[in-house]
Amino acid sequence: MRNCLIVYFSQTGATARASERIAAGLCASGFEVKACNIKDQKPPDVRDYDVLGIGFPVYGFSPPFNVSDYVNGLPHLEGMSSFVFVTYGTYRFNAADRIRQALARKGAKEVGHFHCRGADFYLHYLKLGYLFSPDHPTAEELTGAETFGREIAARVEGGQHLRAPRESAPSLIYRMERLSYRRWFSTWVHSRLFKVDVQKCNVCRLCVARCPVGNITENKGGYPIWGRNCLLCLTCEMECPEEAIVSLQSSSAFRPFLKYNVRKASQDPSISHVRVTHRHGRTIHT
Ligand SMILES: Cc1cc2nc3c(=O)[nH]c(=O)nc-3n(C[C@H](O)[C@H](O)[C@H](O)COP(=O)(O)O)c2cc1C
Ligand code: SF4
Ligand code: SF4
Repeated sequence: MRNCLIVYFSQTGATARASERIAAGLCASGFEVKACNIKDQKPPDVRDYDVLGIGFPVYGFSPPFNVSDYVNGLPHLEGMSSFVFVTYGTYRFNAADRIRQALARKGAKEVGHFHCRGADFYLHYLKLGYLFSPDHPTAEELTGAETFGREIAARVEGGQHLRAPRESAPSLIYRMERLSYRRWFSTWVHSRLFKVDVQKCNVCRLCVARCPVGNITENKGGYPIWGRNCLLCLTCEMECPEEAIVSLQSSSAFRPFLKYNVRKASQDPSISHVRVTHRHGRTIHT
């Protein structure tokens, strides 16, 4: 029996759901599938598998750093079949291409590429009152994921490869925004500028527990301190029940970009949205 390893990152569940349905499609075609969310477990040795799938949410029009690190750290893949899938709330641009190219450099052969929308819990859109793609992935998109699983199974069985076309690059303004999701910016600028308001913080440890990469520890007083390995997922800031965390993206320098993004996406008929408020770690539909 052929087997497939799906390694994905999912923080709010959309990519996990896409992964489940891709796996269901592969299983229905006789594959054995091991799926693993890298925030919860260390993936097994890829060399024990015939096919490798990589899935992730688009963050800042880019792949999250933990996914890039995983792929860059893989051994040579020697003609192994591979596929990439992404979920995204508004615009994905060519975020998947970086991972597709990295897999190709490792010697993998692409058998397909899948994408669908996922509810967009990006803190600063929520704060501006918008939850984009709220009901995604939809039943139809998940059926598409399962069909995709069957298609890649058939391609692997048939010894075929499919080099899907490259995706379109972002326009200038989004390219500028993407710079803030470069690793050097995260390590040397963003990571240093998280602040906790000790008047508000009740040392509940939620931020420490919810960081997907263990980037937050506590000082002697129990207050959070940030390391340099931040993915910029903003989960810590978003979920803090006391609104005690402030990051660089909350500063006024980012505001014009965020407003531009929200205006564009809210006027785009291909992107659904609902109006929300986000307070004390909770998103409430208005
Ligand atoms: C920090 C952050 C940055 C994001 N950046 C983008 C983006 O650049 N483009 C986009 O379309 N969606 C973006 N999103 C939305 C996510 O890609 C989308 O909601 C995804 O489906 C979440 O996947 P998950 O539920 O598996 O974590 C972002 C979300 C977060 C939290
Ligand atoms: S989640 Fe907020 S209140 Fe809780 S420890 Fe972290 S900063 Fe403090
Ligand atoms: S934004 Fe916060 S929760 Fe997310 S990786 Fe960075 S420190 Fe961890």
